[in-house]
Amino acid sequence: MKWIIDTGKKQQPLGDLYGIFFEDLNHAADGGLYGELIQNRSFEFDPIDHPDYHHLTAWEKIEKDGQVKLQVITGRAVSDKNPHYLAMDIQEEGVEVGIQNLGYNTGLPLRKGEKYHFTCYGKREQSLEEPVSISLRDENGQIYVSQELFFTTEWKKYELILEASVTDFSARLAITALGRGKIYLDFVSLFPEETFLNRPNGMRRDIAELLKDMHPKFMRFPGGCLVHDGALDETARDSQYRWKNTIGPLEHRPARRSNWNYNQTLGLGYYEYFQFCEDIGAQPLPVIPGGYDPHHKRYAPLDKMEPFIKDALDLIEFANGGIHTVWGAKRAECGHPEPFHLKYIGIGNEEVLEEFFIRYDLIHKAIREKYPDILIINTGSPFAEGGEYERGWANARKNQSDIVDEHYYMSPEWFLANHHRYDDFDPAGPKVFLGEYASWGNTWYNALVEASYMIGLERNAGVVALACYAPMLANVDYVNWRPDMIWFDNHQVYGSPNYYVQKLFMQNQGDYALASFKEDLPASQVLGQEIIQGEILLGGNEAKVVYSNIVFTNLLTGEKKEFDSVICQKNQDRFSLLSVWDSHYQLEADAVEEEGYRGMQITFGHKDQENEFNWILGGWQNLDTFMNERISGRGSDLCQHTFSVEKNRKYRLKLVVEGRRIRTYVDGILYHDTQSRLPVIEPLYTCASINEAGTEVYLKAVNVSKENRKVLIHLTEDWKGKRKAIIYQMSGYHLEDTNSFQEPEKIAPKAFSEEIIVPEFEFTFPSESVTIMKLT
Ligand code: AHR
Repeated sequence: MKWIIDTGKKQQPLGDLYGIFFEDLNHAADGGLYGELIQNRSFEFDPIDHPDYHHLTAWEKIEKDGQVKLQVITGRAVSDKNPHYLAMDIQEEGVEVGIQNLGYNTGLPLRKGEKYHFTCYGKREQSLEEPVSISLRDENGQIYVSQELFFTTEWKKYELILEASVTDFSARLAITALGRGKIYLDFVSLFPEETFLNRPNGMRRDIAELLKDMHPKFMRFPGGCLVHDGALDETARDSQYRWKNTIGPLEHRPARRSNWNYNQTLGLGYYEYFQFCEDIGAQPLPVIPGGYDPHHKRYAPLDKMEPFIKDALDLIEFANGGIHTVWGAKRAECGHPEPFHLKYIGIGNEEVLEEFFIRYDLIHKAIREKYPDILIINTGSPFAEGGEYERGWANARKNQSDIVDEHYYMSPEWFLANHHRYDDFDPAGPKVFLGEYASWGNTWYNALVEASYMIGLERNAGVVALACYAPMLANVDYVNWRPDMIWFDNHQVYGSPNYYVQKLFMQNQGDYALASFKEDLPASQVLGQEIIQGEILLGGNEAKVVYSNIVFTNLLTGEKKEFDSVICQKNQDRFSLLSVWDSHYQLEADAVEEEGYRGMQITFGHKDQENEFNWILGGWQNLDTFMNERISGRGSDLCQHTFSVEKNRKYRLKLVVEGRRIRTYVDGILYHDTQSRLPVIEPLYTCASINEAGTEVYLKAVNVSKENRKVLIHLTEDWKGKRKAIIYQMSGYHLEDTNSFQEPEKIAPKAFSEEIIVPEFEFTFPSESVTIMKLT
């Protein structure tokens, strides 16, 4: 095989292609990247966040030979934005009486010799001579370090530094007191002094460093569904993510219910996000809600869209405005008079339906008029194909949005099958932001396949502007979603194999693509069968569904088979109708949902539970019909349309399978017309790029096959001579291998360097490997 790279001509710029996506799920912020060690620091946890939460979540009484009554009071707290505070009523003085905080995971992580910055607001019912003791201790109450404070009768902020005398990852922060009577506490905080870049209210250093090391070109934040799932009133406890609530003094940032079932302190807010982006050299890419909550179908009346429009404009001013503008001045007050040079903004996340897009248009128009240079990102639905996906794109074309945000989580096989997805996209249209993607899993196989897909993204950088893996962070004890790129607990962190692939591509992105092509290629390997064979099963998706007038037709022979009616009870096994060995067939049936809420499910091509196709009607929120393909237990939504099932209404359903083309009809109307492409392993996935100065060439090669690939690499004459190649390689693992706390770098690139003679040199890319060569 020969791989020829034309180093002489820079092709399309690669811009900000590879970045990261931060969403506070899996406790990515509180209990994660945000350095705060105290959980529930202002006693605001509430069942609205999580049914098990209460105002004293993560706090415990200490009663050694004494007695204390804890009461959380509402009102007259330090800030009316966080209206609760603790009254610790010492009813019987003892050896030790008070409270302690449990932190996250096993407790507070202390490291010997490190200093911790304690702050709290406190007051006492009456001024006493007896001190309040602040201590760090082990889980059994043995004190490591303790200091004393004397509270007065008025709220006052207290601060002190505690130095850890031992390393203990299950420690507690305790506040105990002598004397009787009430002690009031609010906003109890403990930060390690050594945060990332030692910023106050800063980030946890180890996690932040893993992110910085990647060299991401941008960071999308603050989420995903977290952005738009919530009440439209920004003062509501369960409001959407409204950025203005997240800046300014910490005490005045209202604690918020996150849709990921926990409490968000907002200590990591918009100012910190911008600062963090600057610190890691990434372009900030905020995503704001568009006046529409698809999870609860709430939308702002059109004449009440002003606050959302204003939020967008003010955010741009907050990031970029001069210090004499209203919001630029607020940024300066936060500590950053220089602008943050925001250039991207996303409106909405995965919204579907017209109600969103009408609202999107208003925000888009206002931004365009006032800030024509800002690149506006139009959401493109959570699907890779289908009606809502097309609607997102149509809306972007109509508005001339700069970029469309695509999201998909699929099986590794889908990524192999769709490697060429972007080859035919129109370079004159809006660009693609692949704002969320991942194959289901954190094994080496997932990472390897994702690497092959990234080659396709980079090769198409003329249409793909930005791409980031999702989700990014997960605390192992609070998982909402997996897979994730980086895993941690309260004191350790490791990158998944997917992380190392992302990092390799980011660190070696280059500034311009180079044209390259390959000769004498061996054949690609196609996996799977050209036809969809297996059982057909009828079911209810958490619903009772009655199927009648069922007719199966072999489309090649015209032979028909009729079946008796089938009643699928709720939560019952699916009903097996027949096994199909034909390549072209059709199933028709009348279907009525009589009970339940998630509609009908027709399974076909069923080999086992892990390998089958499902046509679902009335899926998420009874909003969709979609076609899902499961391979080895991992699902891919091939296509989606909006559709709601009406109870007790009869639908005539038709499924047509021709080879791997799948079509569905409801009452004669075509819904899906999709292709289940077969996974293909190409002999070698390659792309090349060069830096601005023309002094560094990056060759990326991903070998998914089981064969080593010996390649003659040819660079054009202008690069002739003796060159140094630094080679980063991931290879030699089992496909199912992964990283863990015990073996954090089991799958991580190894680097070596070689002298090469250009224009032509030979290199063997091992089977199942990712290789990046940096030539200088
Ligand atoms: O990344 C996890 C979730 O997946 C995001 O919140 C949402 O945008 C997507 O559906």
